[in-house]
Amino acid sequence: MTSLVAVLAAYLLGSLSFAVIVSRLMGLDDPRSYGSGNPGATNVLRSGNKKAALLTLVGDALKGWLAVFLALTLASWAGLTVRDIALVAVAVFLGHLWPVYFHFKGGKGVATAAGILLALDWRVGLVVLVVWLIIAKGFKISSLAALVAALLAPLLTAWLMPERDYLYATLLLSALLIARHHRNIRDLLSGKEGKIGQAADKPE
Ligand code: G3P
Repeated sequence: MTSLVAVLAAYLLGSLSFAVIVSRLMGLDDPRSYGSGNPGATNVLRSGNKKAALLTLVGDALKGWLAVFLALTLASWAGLTVRDIALVAVAVFLGHLWPVYFHFKGGKGVATAAGILLALDWRVGLVVLVVWLIIAKGFKISSLAALVAALLAPLLTAWLMPERDYLYATLLLSALLIARHHRNIRDLLSGKEGKIGQAADKPE
């Protein structure tokens, strides 16, 4: 029963789409109406408002981190198993992708996955973040950095985390994240993918 409550709470927390919330609070356009149409920090940055993009990034990462951190911290008190914690990680991510408060139209999960990984094992989270940063800085393409980080995450998890359920969770997160980037992959392959911070058009 407690595990069901934890998973449900994680899903509801993940459903807080900070791109939409921050934009509304700051009186900006809805990020679903411009650029890639994705409610995420990269797209909010296309509005030209760096503060809103940063707040989105932090909010989306923090909710992933918080859900897993709380599950880990309360595990023995609440009787949560490793599998329950892995399910909490998946649930907060699913909330971000399919948010109950926003007609199930969510983001691509990059910041939330980073927060989840940092809470599961800070070494994995840190390496993934550093790789993301290096690629983002080198190529100035957010989606490319996210895709490489998503491929790397399960490898690092398999190497550094002994719990199989965390590996299965990470594999699922990476698979969903890559699937969510199908348009970006198409644009990367055709050389049309935009650079970080490029001004926004209306969504396709
Ligand atoms: O974090 C999402 C990023 O990888 C791609 O976003 O808006 O360029 O599709 P976007």
